[in-house]
Amino acid sequence: MSHQICLLPGDGIGPEVTRASTKIIDATGVKIDWIELDAGGDCAQRTGELLPQSTLDAIEKYRIALKGPIATPVGKGFRSINVSLRKHFGLYAAVRPVYSLKGVQTRYEDVDLVVIRENTEGLYSGIEHEVVPGVVESLKVATEKACTRIAEFAFDYAVKNGRKKVTAFHKANILKMSDGLFVDCARKVHEKSYQGKVEFDDLIIDNACMQMVKDPTQFDVLLLENLYGDVVSDLCAGLVGGLGVVSGANFGPDCAIFEAVHGSAPDIAGKGVANPLACLMSGVSMLEYIGEKESATKITKAFLKVLESGEPAHVTRDIGGTANTEQFVSAILSNL
Ligand SMILES: NC(=O)c1ccc[n+]([C@@H]2O[C@H](COP(=O)([O-])OP(=O)(O)OC[C@H]3O[C@@H](n4cnc5c(N)ncnc54)[C@H](O)[C@@H]3O)[C@@H](O)[C@H]2O)c1
Repeated sequence: MSHQICLLPGDGIGPEVTRASTKIIDATGVKIDWIELDAGGDCAQRTGELLPQSTLDAIEKYRIALKGPIATPVGKGFRSINVSLRKHFGLYAAVRPVYSLKGVQTRYEDVDLVVIRENTEGLYSGIEHEVVPGVVESLKVATEKACTRIAEFAFDYAVKNGRKKVTAFHKANILKMSDGLFVDCARKVHEKSYQGKVEFDDLIIDNACMQMVKDPTQFDVLLLENLYGDVVSDLCAGLVGGLGVVSGANFGPDCAIFEAVHGSAPDIAGKGVANPLACLMSGVSMLEYIGEKESATKITKAFLKVLESGEPAHVTRDIGGTANTEQFVSAILSNL
């Protein structure tokens, strides 16, 4: 029986990297009916709608999607479709494994950590207003329910994946109430259910970022509220070769959307040079999630072989190669 999985190509490099990824996934022989859905800026230009009801209905029905990035205008315009999707489907936990890949040259060799980001609250509430001309307020929302839920998710993830330590990053010295609640909930969850199973500590985020670039190997699972999780995810990507090699997944109680950490990369969109690996790795996580472990392993072995070969003509330029997207895909396919 085929799996029915929603596919949102998105904007910018989204169609290029999702097309590349589905081609490789399909080549493993796994049976997937991709249900292609519209959303984002390109969709709005074609249809007048940013997030059509038919897209929401299909995700509601199938509960699983592979998604390309969707652009959000800076400083004006519509609110993020990514944030809307995460809120609509209750995708409260973003999971972003960040690890060194043999063959990808970086300043560090043995990074192996996982960013867990709370996806529904914080400054992403989108509640902003102009009090008087020249004075703007933005509301940071933190609830005990969401802070506890994401802490439980992070500790549970750590235990299930053989991780040793969870570290919460926060700014509770300044944001005593909101970040204070976040770290307090994490501490309580640890004390109640995870002592002796996994370690817990917390760090003020400015110090944490310095520690991260000095020695990322001291970290294991990172637990972050929404905005810090967004920023630190990109920082972490920089430790292992950039946004082209970091996958992601958003989980809710009964729905999951898999997507790379990167955005629509307007600077390279349409040039055929985007690195498809981050999207492909998100696809691998999706295959594991639906129980297609054999296909997931095949793909992982194939792309690791390509990277380890150190052949510049087989990998994209963001990770030191000379290949375009298509050549990278061909190299992976020939190693499947
Ligand atoms: N989940 C999402 O859909 C998502 C995530 C982040 C940003 N965005 C949106 O994307 C747009 C662009 O954002 P940005 O420029 O700040 O970040 P970006 O991630 O799109 O790009 C940052 C830099 O990384 C490079 N890069 C990213 N992905 C790459 C890949 N696969 N291969 C090679 N190089 C890659 C880009 O060329 C660029 O130089 C914005 O509208 C933003 O809102 C969407």
